[in-house]
Amino acid sequence: RGKRAFIAGVADDNGYGWAIAKSLAEAGAEILVGTWVPALNIFESSLRRGKFDESRKLQDGSLMKITKVYPLDAVYDSPEDVPEDVKANKRYAGASNWTVQEVVESVKNDFGTIDILVHSLANGPEVSKLLSETSRKGYLAAISASSYSYISLLKHFLPIMNQGGSSLSLTYIASERIIPGYGGGMSSAKAALESDTRVLAFEAGRKKRIRVNTISAGPLGSRAAKAIGFIDMMIDYSFTNAPLQKELHAEEVGNTAAFLASPLASAITGSVIYVDNGLNAMGVGV
Ligand code: NAI
Repeated sequence: RGKRAFIAGVADDNGYGWAIAKSLAEAGAEILVGTWVPALNIFESSLRRGKFDESRKLQDGSLMKITKVYPLDAVYDSPEDVPEDVKANKRYAGASNWTVQEVVESVKNDFGTIDILVHSLANGPEVSKLLSETSRKGYLAAISASSYSYISLLKHFLPIMNQGGSSLSLTYIASERIIPGYGGGMSSAKAALESDTRVLAFEAGRKKRIRVNTISAGPLGSRAAKAIGFIDMMIDYSFTNAPLQKELHAEEVGNTAAFLASPLASAITGSVIYVDNGLNAMGVGV
């Protein structure tokens, strides 16, 4: 039987989540995705209308199949957590069962189990503010959407993950080095995510021999990154200063994810794996 993957954080064909879905599909996995509720309609209609067909092409010429798209808002664990104004919001009211617990229940009813969990989402409402000027609310929102969302997904999916499965997330070097511009507590959120990767690797490993890793990816002009505003500069900086002076392709992150999810990586867990043309290894820019 092929493996089944759930990828949280796919809403277009530009980001790392999409590239990971493609690489996993290329390797024979069945693909389920979790799409942020406010982005659901446009993603599904674009899929239906064939807008992504060019980027769905696999090496054998067939189109990647997304077996099911689940609406998801990973800042809410269960319906009791959803505030009234969100419930009443037109975009949210039009979808159902999108809290983490409900999504996992739906996946369980639809498919029984999964083998691979991917967390490819982040959000920090105050990302453009300096850390020293970030509000408590903004900081906690960044941690909630970008770090706890992973704990929640893994916590709820673990009971339906097959023994020997694999889980991974995406992180950024701003967790350990100063990257001015990555503000609002997003650097803190990535530091938490990396630390949690180690502890979760222990817990999920002992419970079900599930591996937990995170990919520290280089800069990509995704929708989320463009919203931060300094992505073109980071891409140029990387091109100039990294050991490998080449464009970083989302596919390279996707392929690393497929490797980490495969038996080829059977002894790798609790790791931060850099896929950044080597930029992390530099001490100075030259
Ligand atoms: P993206 O825009 O493709 O992915 C982010 C996704 O998160 C979007 O689909 C968005 O709808 C979703 N999302 C936001 N809040 C959500 C919520 N509450 N519930 C469910 N989904 C939610 O952008 P990208 O850049 O590919 O991001 C994927 C991951 O890669 C993130 O963790 C990001 O921090 C990480 N990353 C990105 C880098 C970059 O330069 N683009 C560099 C290193 C890491």
